[in-house]
Order: sequence, then C-alpha cells, then structure tokens
Amino acid sequence: MRYNATMSVATYSTKQVSQMAGIHRDTLLRWLREGRISEPGRDRNDWRLFTHEEAQTIVEFARQVNGTAAPILKESAVVYEAPIGAIPRLEKMDWDFINANTGYLTHAIHPYPAKYIPQIPKALIRELASIGDTVLDPFCGSGTTLVEALRLECHAIGIDANPLACLISRSKTTLLNEAEVDCLRGLVEEISYFAQQTFMGTLPLFPELSPFPQSAPMPAFEGVEEWFDQPVIEELSFIKTKCLSLGSEKARQLALTAFSAIIVTVSRQDSDTRYVRRQKNIKPGDTLQLFSRTLAQAVQRVVEFGEEVDGRFTATIHQANILEPPDIEPVDLVVCSPPYPNAYSYHLYHRTRMLWLDMDQPKFKQEEIGSHRKYSHKGSNGATADTFRGELFTILSWLSHTLKPNRYACFVIGDSTIKGQRIQNDQLLIEVAEAAGYEAVANLTRHLQASKKSFNPAIGKIKDEHIVILRNRARQRGR
Ligand SMILES: C[S@@+](CC[C@H](N)C(=O)[O-])C[C@H]1O[C@@H](n2cnc3c(N)ncnc32)[C@H](O)[C@@H]1O
Repeated sequence: MRYNATMSVATYSTKQVSQMAGIHRDTLLRWLREGRISEPGRDRNDWRLFTHEEAQTIVEFARQVNGTAAPILKESAVVYEAPIGAIPRLEKMDWDFINANTGYLTHAIHPYPAKYIPQIPKALIRELASIGDTVLDPFCGSGTTLVEALRLECHAIGIDANPLACLISRSKTTLLNEAEVDCLRGLVEEISYFAQQTFMGTLPLFPELSPFPQSAPMPAFEGVEEWFDQPVIEELSFIKTKCLSLGSEKARQLALTAFSAIIVTVSRQDSDTRYVRRQKNIKPGDTLQLFSRTLAQAVQRVVEFGEEVDGRFTATIHQANILEPPDIEPVDLVVCSPPYPNAYSYHLYHRTRMLWLDMDQPKFKQEEIGSHRKYSHKGSNGATADTFRGELFTILSWLSHTLKPNRYACFVIGDSTIKGQRIQNDQLLIEVAEAAGYEAVANLTRHLQASKKSFNPAIGKIKDEHIVILRNRARQRGR
C-alpha cells in the first residue's frame, strides 16, 4: 500500500489490487486495456496507483465476472508479510562471503573505505523486497545498496551528508546514452595523448614538446602544495578543467568520479585509511595516464551496468544530513551500514578529494556522525555512547514514519571503542530501536576476514560485525 504524498490517501499497486480481487495481474491489465475498468493515476515513475475506491470497484467487478463473493475491502486490508521463510533463510546464510568477488560492475570505480560488500545488501533485498519496491539506504556512501537494488528491479533512494559519496553513488547508478559514452571515450583518448606527450617531453630527444596547455586554473585550497608535487597539481588542474567542460551532466559526474578516484594515489597522502604524508615519486605524465586508464575502466563498468539493469528502475540520491532528513516517499525496505563511533573519519581521509572538487568539506566535517574527531575530543564537549544513542533515536524515529508498517530495516554494524570502553553497537541499536517502535527479528554475525584491517589501528581491530534486522511496528504518518 502506498500513501499519496499530497492527498494523504492510501493507494495500491497493480499487483496488490490483483491480489485483492483474486485475479491474475494480466487479467487486470487486460480489463484496463479493454476499457472495462478505468485507468488509475500514475506515480512519478509511471507506475499505476489505484485509490482505495478504485481498488474496491475492481474487487466488486471481479466478483461479478467470476461470480464469487469478494470481501469488502478495508483500508488495512494489505498488511505486508515477508515471504514465508525469509528470515530463517537469512539466519541460515553464511555471511562471511570468503573470497567472494566484490568488485563487479560499477562497485569498484572509486575507493570508499568501510563500504560493505555487495553480497550483503543483495541477500537482504532479495529476501525482503519485491520487484518494483523502493529500497532506502539512509547512509548510502558509495552506493553499494543502490546498485544492488537496481539490479534486483527495485527503485533506490540514497541519502548521505558526504557530497563525495553522493557524486560516487550517482555515477555508479547512472545509465549513459551512446553520445555520453562516446564523449567520455573521447576524453580518455585526449588525456592519454597528453600523457604520451608528457612522457616524451621528459626525454632529451624532444625537449621542445609541450605536454599540455598550461591554462587551467590552479587550486587554491590550504595545504595543496604540502600534499601534492607541482607537476601533479598542474596535471590534476588540467584534467579537472577538461572534466568540467563536458556538456552532459552524467558524463561530467562520471569523469569527476574518475578524477576523484586517483587523487589519493597521486598525492602524498599515505593511503585512503592513513592521513599522513609520504613521498611517492609520481613522475610527470603519471597522473594523466592514471586518470585516462581509470576513466576508461569506469566507462566500461557503467556500460556493463546499463546492459544489465532495466531503465524503468531509478535511483534518487539526496545530499543531506540524516539528522535533518529530506522529505521522501514511503519506502518498502531499508538496508544500510550506518556510521558509528570511531569507525572512520570520511571528512579527513577524503579531505583533499573534496577540496579538489570544490565541495564544502568543513560543513560535512560538522555533520559527520561517528567521526574520530568528535569521539576523541577531551573534556565535556567530547561525544560519548549517549551521543550516538541520541542520534540513533532521532534517525530511527524518522525512519519509522518513512518505512511502511511491518517492513524491515537492516543495519550492518560493528563494535566501537570510546575512550577505552568497548561499546556493543548492535545491542545499543536494538535497545534504541525497541524504544522507537521496532521489533528486532534477527541479529546475525558476520566474521571479517583476518586480512581485513580495522579502519583505525589505534582503536582496535574489528573482527565481527552484526546484521541487525528490525521490523517497523509503528503506524505510518498520514501524508
Ligand atoms: C559506513 S559508511 C556507508 C558505506 C556504504 N554502505 C557503502 O557501501 O558505500 C557510512 C556513511 O554515513 C555517512 N554519514 C555520516 N554522517 C552522516 C550524516 N549526519 N548524515 C548522513 N550521512 C552521514 C558517511 O558519509 C558514510 O558515507
């Protein structure tokens, strides 16, 4: 059952109405085609939405045609029930996914530490959602849930306060047309050409070769020279200007995602999980070549993704602080891995990427939940387990009105250590969820591979994480 956002009336999908009327969906579609029943309105994705009255008329019409006695339909007639055996099947699964391929399709086009493996949202969506449902990830990060939702013929909504996460998520779920693919491949060729020119220009044989036009504006953010060698700054500036000059927004987004993907590698930052400087010996031309290869691969992955997914299913991504959430339609399933205390500091490790992309990094730094900066702060201003508890309560209360009644919210979460004290976030989450109107129906354990590093060695190694499945018992707010 859906709620129409403007009229606060219950609405039903074609599948639901055919179930209520006890007829096959194809029969309902045939009656509509033949004009025996009138066409209902459509939602923004062009799916049919029947009002309660329209559904009731169809139920009565089916009764006349079939000569059966259909029950009088109540507003509460369609109460969601998970497919029989879904939760026991999830409980029996091996969640460790040792040696699973996690980088297929668009999943690997940009590094995103602490992202979860696609097998997790895939299994949850497959069991707990149906075709045409809407799956929400309120901390979508690099878009893993959204990619898997589209593959399973669901609509996807993603929210994240990190503007870089939103850029990556949009690129990973985008469908490009031929002209956009051609234009991106043109950029790959052009940058590759300049990389070759630059390599040759460094040889004594070709001292007069000009590697590339030096007209691109240089970045002005604080510390750029500490984190990047001068030739790298020039090459990155040139690439960025080229990306921004692309006419199509989708092509521009993908090019900028590839640009962002290479930034830590060509910087002096040690890695995506260590914000310390080290010299790396990046030679002139290396940055251009790396970008050209990264973009070529990203385009290929997006093309393959486009061949697999049905364009009628869409992903919508909102850049927003979840503590001040955007207004979104009711959703059928929530699947996410929330940020939790001391797990990772995206504002720090992604700092240079965000500054190169002219994103508001200081704003995200303020908004980021769980960052080490907030939890390591000494004195009365430092965040505590109660800070996280309060944030979870705010989020779950909002979600209980956004997630349809009886539907599921799945959280993948590990433990934290706050000022030396171990916090079992799965237990904390369940406690808060029960107070906010949910029932905890499962708490599954997943063992992380021994080789997997914790995100901050100073905080301790995380060996297990939990998949907490909650059922929303709250009644939905009239919309
Ligand atoms: C563990 S990551 C999610 C990774 C994601 N599952 C994936 O596979 O890429 C947690 C996410 O929460 C986001 N986040 C942190 N604070 C937030 C806030 N206040 N509002 C919305 N998102 C926030 C971070 O930017 C990060 O992307």
